[in-house]
Amino acid sequence: MENQSNSIDAIKRNADRYDNIESAKRFLEGIAGTSHRAARHKKEYDAVSQFLQHPYVSTNNAVLDIGCSGGRYIQLFITNGFRPCGVDTSMTALRYANSLFGQSAVFSNASATHLPFKEDVFDIVLCVELLHHFDDCYLEKILGEISYLIKPGGTLICDVRNSLNPVLWHSYRKRDGRHFTLKTRSIFKMIKILKKCGFEVLYRKSLFFPISIFAPYVILFCKYGPDRKVLDTDVGRAVEEDSGIACGESQGATAEEFSMSSVKGH
Ligand SMILES: C[S@@+](CC[C@H](N)C(=O)[O-])C[C@H]1O[C@@H](n2cnc3c(N)ncnc32)[C@H](O)[C@@H]1O
Repeated sequence: MENQSNSIDAIKRNADRYDNIESAKRFLEGIAGTSHRAARHKKEYDAVSQFLQHPYVSTNNAVLDIGCSGGRYIQLFITNGFRPCGVDTSMTALRYANSLFGQSAVFSNASATHLPFKEDVFDIVLCVELLHHFDDCYLEKILGEISYLIKPGGTLICDVRNSLNPVLWHSYRKRDGRHFTLKTRSIFKMIKILKKCGFEVLYRKSLFFPISIFAPYVILFCKYGPDRKVLDTDVGRAVEEDSGIACGESQGATAEEFSMSSVKGH
């Protein structure tokens, strides 16, 4: 129980850390942090961009970006003809993204741990630069949420900070908890957790090193298996009447970290 409340504190700290306009603007431009981070953001962006060009990806696909910040990927989706939905705990980031892309996208203030959407709504779910902030139990919770709202056969694009890369493992171990949670996990462990939640990794894109087993960062393109629903309850899910996609102010969520972050935005 103590571990869990520590983890909720950590989730709040992570969310607070990004809840400012500078962060939203920098993430929109892909220039947040050091030049190494900017290079990583570019590689991630290019990988997602390339995926969208695949012939089996249709612009009719409903797309969700979890941890959308200022809307870098929302913009990419719009440019490619989608009408995406963005979720973030930061109201500041959402207001900013909405002011730029609100005509062509919908935004929802929610935590990845409690996503206010209907079952089987999205064809593609993007969750990059976020999952390394969560302990395993919360990672599973998030994947469980995604498994609820993603359609069978849908694609999840996520990333892993690979502990089998010794430099990354060491650097994250030193920095973990100073400002926020930084978790590495081995690519094998990540694949195992994904599998447990119904996701099969179809393709791995290694960044900064050609062999994914030892690459520091790996983007995972996963397919959601049709008969593997993790969540069997529907606790307080809010639905926007006309789009079939929930949006607006964190409706329906009951989690402590979620309510805190939504209240903060006002
Ligand atoms: C490192 S930024 C990544 C932004 C974007 N995905 C990208 O790759 O450029 C992490 C974003 O996730 C948001 N965030 C933090 N905790 C969250 C949570 N529990 N649920 C949803 N979003 C969260 C932050 O507010 C921030 O905008």
